[in-house]
Amino acid sequence: MTKFAERLRAGHIRGLAALTDGTIRSPFTQLRRLLDGIEPGHAKPIELTIGEPREAMPEFIAARVAEDSASFGKYPPIRGSDALRGAIGAWIGRRHGVTGVDPAKEILVLNGSREGLTFACWPAVGRKPWLTEPAILMCNPYYSAYVAGALGCGAEAVFLNATRDTGFLPDLDALSADTELLARTVALFIGSPSNPQGAVADPAYIASALSLARRHDFMLFFDECYSEIYTGSAPAGALTVAAETPGRFRNLVVFNSLSKRSNLPGLRSGFCAGDAEFLEAYAEIRNMCAPQVAGPVQHASAAAWSDEAHVEAARAVYRLKFNDADAILAGRFGYARPAGGFCLWLDMSQFGGGANAAVTLWKSFGVKVIPGAPSRARTGATRGMPISALRWSSRPKSSGRHSNELSS
Ligand SMILES: Cc1ncc(COP(=O)(O)O)c(C=O)c1O
Repeated sequence: MTKFAERLRAGHIRGLAALTDGTIRSPFTQLRRLLDGIEPGHAKPIELTIGEPREAMPEFIAARVAEDSASFGKYPPIRGSDALRGAIGAWIGRRHGVTGVDPAKEILVLNGSREGLTFACWPAVGRKPWLTEPAILMCNPYYSAYVAGALGCGAEAVFLNATRDTGFLPDLDALSADTELLARTVALFIGSPSNPQGAVADPAYIASALSLARRHDFMLFFDECYSEIYTGSAPAGALTVAAETPGRFRNLVVFNSLSKRSNLPGLRSGFCAGDAEFLEAYAEIRNMCAPQVAGPVQHASAAAWSDEAHVEAARAVYRLKFNDADAILAGRFGYARPAGGFCLWLDMSQFGGGANAAVTLWKSFGVKVIPGAPSRARTGATRGMPISALRWSSRPKSSGRHSNELSS
């Protein structure tokens, strides 16, 4: 039996060893090993694994970086410049209808949201020092930064299945019944739109998650990095829901970034916003060890958050891509146009599961996709219910379709 299976049988994934002994590996490492030595079945392979948008980045970015290049000569402010936090606060006001966000206390700038999601686990554990077995809960499939963050600070990583059976989001009713777990929970990660499912939490779901967090005094980490990629209505934001409650942002931190919204994954620029008391402790930790965002990048980021034209243009292209996906995939592999995000998460059980399908697609067609089956859940309504799946991001007909795709 593998170490992974042993740990899962014991129902416990905890501690740094899980990150070093092969228990938990990045999905990209797993895929590299899976496809190792297998030649692609096409002269021009298509890479569909990495969550990297392929639309044009805003043309003003390079000029804005150059404009402030002198600040490469200075250590950047870890919390973010006043100008950038002001621009983010204004964006939150326009996009989410939340006014009065205090940029000085309720917003921190991140070097991309990934590191922010990971480091946020530290103060989440730290604020409940009496717990001997802290737990960090996460939607499953999960984003690697959640599990790395949880294990890195000695918490147990608890996977809450988010599959078709649960509406592609964790089952909060099942969770609220698990009082033993909730008593030692320090944080819950939920993505909306979720990766890879593309599910969007509605305001009632967000309100339930927040009230659970407040009842048990844990942090709700709400990952909204795909919030601007949608083809119907704009996904609800957790700050909007929280702003309506008497507790305002208490127990809530929302994460977002320019990577997907503005096609700038290489810029490494994101932010988190929410609970001022938590962010104060978090900023203190960040001031000791987290990566800052370079000054010129902060300057350019303020311009990106202040402009919606490039975001709308990208959304128009995503609409075309999803129109193609609708035409090609409707009625097949459990496909439904996702409410948000740019991943497709398809049921590959008829091909022997996501891993088998990934090998076949690579070997036969030169298409690289990533198996997306959830890890076996330790808790939640759908214990141990793996579905076989793979995921890829889509590309539009207009950009020239590869002749060897799944539909041919
Ligand atoms: C669900 C999810 N959250 C967060 C991130 C982090 O993005 P970034 O660090 O570029 O902001 C990603 C990147 O793929 C993601 O898929």
